[in-house]
Amino acid sequence: MDEATLSPLCWHGDAETGVLRLLDQRALPREERWIECRTAQEVATAIQDMIVRGAPAIGLAGAYGMVLAARGPAAPPAPSPRAGARRSGTGAVPGPAPSTGLSRARDLLATARPTAVNLVWAVDKLASAAREDPSPARLLSLARALHEDDIAGNRRMAALGAARIESGMGVLTHCNAGALATGGIGTALGVLWEAHRQGKRIHVYADETRPRLQGARLTAWELSRRGIPHTLVCDGAAASLMARGRIQLVVTGADRIAANGDAANKIGTYSVAVNARFHAIPFHVAAPAATFDLALPDGRGIPIEERSEEEVTAWGGERTCPAQTHATNPAFDVTPAALIRSIFTDRGEVDPVGREAIARVLGSASR
Ligand code: MRU
Repeated sequence: MDEATLSPLCWHGDAETGVLRLLDQRALPREERWIECRTAQEVATAIQDMIVRGAPAIGLAGAYGMVLAARGPAAPPAPSPRAGARRSGTGAVPGPAPSTGLSRARDLLATARPTAVNLVWAVDKLASAAREDPSPARLLSLARALHEDDIAGNRRMAALGAARIESGMGVLTHCNAGALATGGIGTALGVLWEAHRQGKRIHVYADETRPRLQGARLTAWELSRRGIPHTLVCDGAAASLMARGRIQLVVTGADRIAANGDAANKIGTYSVAVNARFHAIPFHVAAPAATFDLALPDGRGIPIEERSEEEVTAWGGERTCPAQTHATNPAFDVTPAALIRSIFTDRGEVDPVGREAIARVLGSASR
């Protein structure tokens, strides 16, 4: 465990023989256990099983998964580009198609979980680079660059968000959008850590986050490790805490944000935003540019992951409801842009939240 960043993933070794090490987040806070992935398939399974989770972290894991695929026996080197072939300013000369192994790995990794767009974004960056140079060394340096960018982007978001936080505030967050969910200090929790680091007296209320308890197991663990005063609350307690004046601001992360600012995040986030609006409490989102999907005009097109009903009908292997009762288990919901006060991004603050401000802050530069 990296004390400075609480990082949940790291590449160990060189491009040809190294491994991706993942902190098994299913075991926290009981145990800090690391697993090693040596193939893209192992990385895809780790993402599906939520050994690694959180939108930016699964994107980085996917990128490192492509490095593993590049050296596999199923990924022979692609033919070199024709002599003299160059990219022109407008019409790009397509590079060689990625090898079958790499394009299979791309599909496997990009579809491991459907809601967080960071995963497709990162894996496609590597797939596209592999068209020019599919060597593991080249792909590892790109994956490392994405990791470094995420670390720097987290710090920029944290500085922006911390400016909105005043000493004495109670701040509610939902799920885990901390170091465990990213390559750096986190998005929403990065904001809170920065405010705390600046000496602002804050108290964090962490929703426990049914059904997988990311708030109780992961957010409370991070807040404890950082020494940030906090209280764990069950998801249903948020409205009552707001009514009693205990919460002055809400900040959460996001998994995919549409062009108009509608934002998907962990199931229950939408209820928190509705409650915040009713109590006139500002609701903010912190997310990097890689979380925006500008191809989607609004949140209706965001794919929502449906997970197994056993996550809801059982606890610790014991059924919690009658045998004939079924559950539905959408893992995310979409908070309408109208309920979001502002979005802290690594490119600046989107305020007010809407198409124009998003286009202005994100600009036309590639994400
Ligand atoms: O199902 P999870 O644990 O991957 O869901 C994670 C979240 O909803 C986070 O809030 C989101 O990915 C933002 S992480 C910086």
